[in-house]
Formats: sequence, C-alpha cells, structure tokens
Amino acid sequence: MDARSIGKVENFDSLTARNQRLAAGDPIRLRIRRSGGDLGEQIRFDSFEIPYQTSMRVLDALIYVAEHFAPDLAYRWFCGSKMCGTCAVRMNGREVLACWESVEPEMTLEPLRNLPVVRDLVVDRAPYEARVAAFEPWLVRNQEYAGFPEPLTHKEMKDASKALDCISCMACFSACPVIGLGSLTDFAGPAPLVQLAQTALDARNDPNKVAGALEHAGIFNCVSCYKCEEVCPAKIPIVSQVIEPLKAKTAALRPALAKHSLTFRAIIAARGRIDPTELVLRVQGLKAVLHVARAIKLLIAGKINPLRTLFKKRNGAATAARRVLRNEDIGQS
Ligand code: SF4
Ligand code: SF4
Ligand code: FES
Repeated sequence: MDARSIGKVENFDSLTARNQRLAAGDPIRLRIRRSGGDLGEQIRFDSFEIPYQTSMRVLDALIYVAEHFAPDLAYRWFCGSKMCGTCAVRMNGREVLACWESVEPEMTLEPLRNLPVVRDLVVDRAPYEARVAAFEPWLVRNQEYAGFPEPLTHKEMKDASKALDCISCMACFSACPVIGLGSLTDFAGPAPLVQLAQTALDARNDPNKVAGALEHAGIFNCVSCYKCEEVCPAKIPIVSQVIEPLKAKTAALRPALAKHSLTFRAIIAARGRIDPTELVLRVQGLKAVLHVARAIKLLIAGKINPLRTLFKKRNGAATAARRVLRNEDIGQS
C-alpha cells in the first residue's frame, strides 16, 4: 500500500462503506445459537428478522433482538469500541468483534469455540486466564534498573510491543485448530502465547524466568496455519512476531524441547531436502522401532528410501540451503 492510499483504505473500511449494499429498513435475518439457562445442555437456534439501521453493527443487532424479542438473550460487551475484547462471537463461522463488525443480510451468530459456553453467546474465559496466570507474565530483572529513559532499542522491543496491542478477545483461540484437538496436545494456544510474549520477548526479562514459562507452552504444536492471524481484530502478526520468536527463544534456552525443529533444519541444510527416515531416527532414537510396521508400509508405497538415508544423499539445493539457514548455527548431520 503506498502512503497516498492509506486514508482511502481506512475510509473504505468504515462501517458505512461495508454496509453500503444495505438500505435503512432492509431486513436482517439472524439465527442465534441458544444454550444454557433454562435450556441446560440443549442447543437450539432462534431466528429473528430485524430492520437494518445505518452503520449497524452485530452488537446493535443483538441489542435490538434483546430489546424487542428475547430479553433473556445472553451476550457480553463493555466498551463498544474495540478496546475491551469481551464481545467476540462467531458470525457465519468467522470470529468477529460484535462491536466492530458490520451486519450481514443473513447472519448466524454462535459463541466462540474452544471455551466452555456459559449461556447463549457468553463463554467462560477462566481456562484462558488460568493458562496466562500459570505463565507468571511479569518481568523478573536480574540487572539493576538502568535509569530513565532505559537504553532499549526499537529492534529489541519490536516483537514484545506488537503483542501489547492484544485486547484479549479470544478470537484467535477460537479459530486455532490445534486448540480444537483438546487434550491431544499441551499447546497453550495463540491468545495465552501473545500474553506471554509481552514479557518473554522483552529484552529485560530474566532468561531463566522466560525458559520456565516456555517449558509449559507446548509451542512446537503450532502448525503455522495463520488462522489466528486471519481473525485478530488488533492485526497482531501472531505467527511471525509472536509464535516464531517464541519458538526461536525456546530453541535457544531449552534446545531439547526443539529437537524436532532443529533436526529438521539440520537435515535440510546438509542434504538440501528433508529425509523423513533420518528425521524419525534422529528424533525418536530407539523408540523408532515401535513404528516398523508403518515404515514397511511406507517403503512398499515408495514413500521412503533407506538407501538415500544410508548414503546421506544430498541434492543441488544443499549449498543454498546451508547458506540460507546459516549453517554455522546448525548441528552437523
Ligand atoms: S498458526 Fe498456530 S496458533 Fe495460529 S491458529 Fe494455526 S496452529 Fe493455532
Ligand atoms: S491476539 Fe488478537 S485475536 Fe488473539 S486475543 Fe489478542 S487481540 Fe484477540
Ligand atoms: S465491546 Fe469492547 S471490544 Fe467489543
């Protein structure tokens, strides 16, 4: 985007512009997922039709429904201006802030995923808050305070300062497919990691304190799918400026936790391509024997080539890969 187009893009992004296909009085059809309260475990979708009003937001539609049709509808909001993060819901399958998103002519509204539903559109934030508290997200300084202003550079603070834009809306947590796997992984999830990054990526924090928190983050379970970034209303580059730097910090402070990633990188640098057999052997060691049956199947299907592994065959991309990955930092294959 060139500098001259910035104002235009902002204008186009206004609620009025996004709603320009609707005229005052046009019908808005809503389906709202209801549960909890008198319904208990039962889930149902209630349908409502309301008149569109100029610059109408999802939150305005919810207020209209509560005032005219369903006074017992549970939904949460506080600031009404993209500050408090309490109003996030899913609209037509996508996480949005109700106070910031324009209405659609047909809308299905549901609560966020991956958190217990208290009632209707209200979720219980306690699991997220417990996870953040367990990280003990504050600074422990092992050096004397250097006086004011502190000699911090923009480069030292750029990732931590991006994370400080978080409004704790949990949209990213709802969108994350790895969190959706439940207890199959110990992944903390994007929203708690953004909170952790505010102090873990701060150059003043004690590395031992940071390492202790990262040990419980399960960060290498992130599959870098970018679903979290797609829905973040604060436009935080969650993968590139939170999760990747935290992964790098984990690899530096606790290399044993990053064994898979570091080995993957070392093999690429040595051979110019990944070798799945070597990766499994080096990461799992003797435990790889447990997967012999699967290995035979892969061998028959031509998916693995033990000879290539045995003779450490490399291809023409190895030199470039070594240069790109700064091979001097990588363990030898
Ligand atoms: S990039 Fe990682 S944290 Fe973000 S949604 Fe995907 S798996 Fe979750
Ligand atoms: S990182 Fe973005 S989406 Fe996630 S909680 Fe913070 S503001 Fe919301
Ligand atoms: S009501 Fe505060 S962010 Fe929407």
